[in-house]
Amino acid sequence: MQYKLYFAIGIIFSISGFTESLSKTKEKEIKDDIVQLIEINVNPKGELHFIAGFVRVAFHDCVGGCDGCLNLRDSNNAGLDVYVEPLETVYAKYNTDLTRADFWQLVGITAIERSARNCRACIRPKLVFETGRKDCADSPDYKGLRTFPMGGGHADINSGMIFLENAFGLPRTDPKLATALIGAHSLGESHASASGWNGRWTQNPDQITNRYYKNLIKLRWSQIDLNKGKPGVDPIYQWQPGKFHSKKQNIFDKRKKGVMMLNADLAFAKNLSTDATGLSGCPVSSKCKDQPDTAEWVRKYADNATLWEENFAIAYMMMIRTGYNATDLHATTAP
Ligand code: HEM
Repeated sequence: MQYKLYFAIGIIFSISGFTESLSKTKEKEIKDDIVQLIEINVNPKGELHFIAGFVRVAFHDCVGGCDGCLNLRDSNNAGLDVYVEPLETVYAKYNTDLTRADFWQLVGITAIERSARNCRACIRPKLVFETGRKDCADSPDYKGLRTFPMGGGHADINSGMIFLENAFGLPRTDPKLATALIGAHSLGESHASASGWNGRWTQNPDQITNRYYKNLIKLRWSQIDLNKGKPGVDPIYQWQPGKFHSKKQNIFDKRKKGVMMLNADLAFAKNLSTDATGLSGCPVSSKCKDQPDTAEWVRKYADNATLWEENFAIAYMMMIRTGYNATDLHATTAP
């Protein structure tokens, strides 16, 4: 596998490190290659699905410190191999210029920038690319486990907020940044083959827009179990737009076909009172009370994309600096 072929090179550079800052010209050259990889990977719906995958790679790499290492055998990282492996072909061209840890963060920033191209509704957060991150010894592999929210998509507001505070320092006491960062889910989708959940948060999953927050606030959501009727299998709860029907759960809003929310998302808007399996005490969102701390930020970001853009940029920069202090990281230099 290509992934493994690059181990040796990765180990050499993780030991030696990279002391020189990258030039803006080189940054642009690498970005152009990343954009090319994004644009040649169009899914059957005509969407640039690598955009979301690249942002998720950047996010997962920063859990436990951005270090160019992902344990692809960890179920929390399921599905990321689809993006990591093609990225290795680009990284092979630049592995003497920057660490994989820096490269994956350039990948995430480039993906967000590409998502806003030709998109009036998209935000354009000011994300500064810096170098100076170090790869772990076995980069890109990692054999240990990093801490993700309990229950993944079943996460309730507490485990989501505890995770975002512990992982990236986004304060629970001032939840505007955590609520802004989860808006990255305006990109991409959940895959039955990866996490088990299935659907996209918005109908334009390659555009970074505040439709995620608008959907959270404006749609009426019903909780369903994707494993309903399968004996002996754990439930997989997610929320779909439309009327809840007690006998026939599949009467949904056809205009929003394929759209869903995880408990971990809707928990930012509503107090879902979930049990250990993820089952909500209020299976129709209109019957759930507002989440006391975060619902107001969901509403603000739904109404004001500029406010979201500013807070998303702050939160995202905190995420991609995880594990480093100000003197470790350097902006790219002219030319
Ligand atoms: C409480 C925290 C979070 C939880 C529980 C969570 C959970 C999930 C789950 C279950 C998936 C579906 C994976 C799949 O089936 O392919 C997913 C996808 C995704 N997540 Fe998150 N996530 C969280 C935070 C974040 C953050 C902080 C970011 C980025 C800043 C992010 C970006 C994404 C993206 C872009 C995708 C779509 C990937 C694709 O389309 O392949 N998530 N997340």
